[in-house]
Amino acid sequence: MLDMKRAGQGAIRSHDDVRTMFDRIVPRYDLMNRVMTGGRDGVWRRLAVREAFDGRSASGLRILDVATGTGDLAIALRDAGAGSVVGLDFSPHMLDEAKRKENLANGQQIVWVEGDAMALPFADASFDAVTVGFGLRNMPGYLDALREMARVLRPDGVLACLETTPLMTPILRTAFDWYFSRVVPLVGGLLSGDRDAYAYLPASAAAFPDANALGIMMLGAGFTRVRYLRLGFGAVALHVATNGGVLPPGE
Ligand SMILES: C[S@@+](CC[C@H](N)C(=O)[O-])C[C@H]1O[C@@H](n2cnc3c(N)ncnc32)[C@H](O)[C@@H]1O
Repeated sequence: MLDMKRAGQGAIRSHDDVRTMFDRIVPRYDLMNRVMTGGRDGVWRRLAVREAFDGRSASGLRILDVATGTGDLAIALRDAGAGSVVGLDFSPHMLDEAKRKENLANGQQIVWVEGDAMALPFADASFDAVTVGFGLRNMPGYLDALREMARVLRPDGVLACLETTPLMTPILRTAFDWYFSRVVPLVGGLLSGDRDAYAYLPASAAAFPDANALGIMMLGAGFTRVRYLRLGFGAVALHVATNGGVLPPGE
């Protein structure tokens, strides 16, 4: 059952701490993602893109990638043919890296916006889909962040959310706890020089609701038809939710 007390909570660190931490780890951030996930994160992002498109013609879709970081999910959306893509993050250094990567590839321009996911600088119902990859866990209030994503989505728009999730099988859970709490901070510390940032990852994952609870929270935020699939031996969940809500007058 959803613990509503927990639902109101969010990141285990303050807003400013989270932002400066992500600012610090930019140089090795992508490399660490590849190492930690055994190179699977690209596949997960492409799945999230497919779910965000939801069988619609990609070229007609305006999509927001919240907590875009170094832009991998935004770039995957663009490369898969999304009509227009906006990538938002509150870390300026993450966004600098996203812009640098975008410039290496040809293709339609992505709009990069420095902003806070808790107060998105966009009008109501202005996107056909919203994606968020490994970002929600870092936000100061998960439910409020989801409500904000629902606000900027059109009615019937789709949210695709990739996030770490607690494992259900005890033996796998023990193995992943060990990997996350011992190996990741060690390797992250060696590669990035910032062991603290990679100790935050398992701690923030441990504080995050399980996949069922997150699904219920999405319903509480105004989404309907929530479903999820587990990836990465069950350690990652891709939630797909349709926005409820009412069409603005005249639509
Ligand atoms: C683990 S990274 C994920 C980046 C990217 N989505 C990916 O899949 O690699 C989390 C990102 O969330 C951003 N973030 C955390 N809280 C945020 C907030 N309240 N508003 C905007 N961005 C936020 C951080 O700056 C960071 O870039």
